[in-house]
Amino acid sequence: MLFDTHAHITDDKYDEDRAELLEKISQSDVKYIVNPGVDIPSSLEAIELAKRYKFIYAAIGIHPHEASGADEDSISRLRELAKCDKVVAIGEIGLDYYYEFSPKDVQKDIFIRQIELANETGLPIIVHDRDAHADTFSIIKKHKAPGTGCVLHCYSGSKEMAMEYVRLGCHISIAGPVTFKGNNKTAEVVREIPLERMLIETDSPYLTPVPFRGKRNDPTKVEHVAAMIAQIRGLSYERVCQQTSENALDFFNIKK
Ligand code: NI
Repeated sequence: MLFDTHAHITDDKYDEDRAELLEKISQSDVKYIVNPGVDIPSSLEAIELAKRYKFIYAAIGIHPHEASGADEDSISRLRELAKCDKVVAIGEIGLDYYYEFSPKDVQKDIFIRQIELANETGLPIIVHDRDAHADTFSIIKKHKAPGTGCVLHCYSGSKEMAMEYVRLGCHISIAGPVTFKGNNKTAEVVREIPLERMLIETDSPYLTPVPFRGKRNDPTKVEHVAAMIAQIRGLSYERVCQQTSENALDFFNIKK
């Protein structure tokens, strides 16, 4: 069993063959997928898709790229949407100082409001952090309630920072870049953090793992992330699949 904790199936890169792809996934070892939104329309699409496919769950949220387009009304909409029983998280939310499509202050404000919404609803958060490691950490530390789950999606920070997150009760999600040649930083993170705090993902359609790098990604390729983690940790592939799936089911509070 595999659990892809982050795949954007509603992305237009799947418009041509989405039904076919979902059929292929349903025949694979991937038994669960969480599809995160990046704004209100894509959060609605994520919910619609989750309603049609049993193995797909939705996360709803405003991505830092979209933060400038958000207002008080967006948070109220998310609060309403969070009531749907296929919504398992608030995400993806966070900070992106690499592209900085929205001003930093606006990104921080929308991030904090969505963490507060997660605290209020009891849903965990899925966090995007690109080149904003220090601010992301301090905001989570300050605003996340102790009982609110938090995963750093496609984690790209240091092993020391990863352990700081683990001590805060957070999870670390490993994606395709762990398979890239010369990515020792992510390998060190995989070696360091407890397996019980690790989730796996594809971030489809992006970040395709080796040996498919350069092609479009999809959830069936999460097995290559699991295989690389097994190799780094010296564990069996089955053990990594089983533990990361259990972790994700617990994290998203999904009953088997
Ligand atoms: Ni994403």
